Amino acid sequence: MLPEQGGQPQTVLLVYYSYSGQTGVLINRLAAGLKEQGIKVFFEKLKPVNHLRFPVGSIFRTYLMMLVTFFRRRVPIKELSPKCSREYDLVILAGPTWSYNPSGPVLSFLDRDGRDVLAGREVLPLISCRGYWRMHWWGLRKKLDECGALFSSSPIVFTHPSKEPWRTIGVFLKIAGRNPERSGFLGKRYNRFGHSSEQMEEAFRFGVQIGQSLKSGFPLREINFKTDIALP
Ligand SMILES: Cc1cc2nc3c(=O)[nH]c(=O)nc-3n(C[C@H](O)[C@H](O)[C@H](O)COP(=O)(O)O)c2cc1C
Repeated sequence: MLPEQGGQPQTVLLVYYSYSGQTGVLINRLAAGLKEQGIKVFFEKLKPVNHLRFPVGSIFRTYLMMLVTFFRRRVPIKELSPKCSREYDLVILAGPTWSYNPSGPVLSFLDRDGRDVLAGREVLPLISCRGYWRMHWWGLRKKLDECGALFSSSPIVFTHPSKEPWRTIGVFLKIAGRNPERSGFLGKRYNRFGHSSEQMEEAFRFGVQIGQSLKSGFPLREINFKTDIALP
């Protein structure tokens, strides 16, 4: 029975990790779109046991982080809250790409809690990245399969809209603790770190569409998440 007919509203669990805030903002806008459709939204933020400071603070430490994340180093996370053991109509698993892989906290979540939280549930992944997400998706898909998650749709992917090579240089410097968007030469070519406000609105629109799909039974896989705004 649909909520407007007096039934229970559909529920969505948003499990996410965000290091520099980009996934966090996308998830908040997406949740606002879901709520507009009357969907009940629950957030579970993955919290590293030892807080990861952003920015890391030096070029050397940024290289080191890139290297260890390439080898999929896990970042231990705190215990999940009890809300993760409830039933949901959909789980959205969101986080950044780290050296072509899912981030360390998301990998820890999948290793330790993946089966408990995701098995037999419909899971929609969301990836926030600079621009290179295919290997991340390939690895994540394998992990989701191992956890017994059901995923009928392709992931939601948002890439940073700045042009290369400035995007790569800009993200690297930002992680190191510099302000590339304020430097004279680079600032002219790279004026923003992360996602644009149009992409935030696109996340809201996706939230509305997912909400409509949950209410109507229209399959998620029919929604086009690969738009020119999300993937410029
Ligand atoms: C250690 C590290 C490695 C990264 N590696 C990649 C990568 O391989 N491909 C990519 O497109 N973006 C990469 N990025 C950029 C992030 O995915 C991107 O900035 C994302 O929007 C950050 O999301 P967050 O703010 O939620 O953490 C990397 C970022 C970090 C910190």
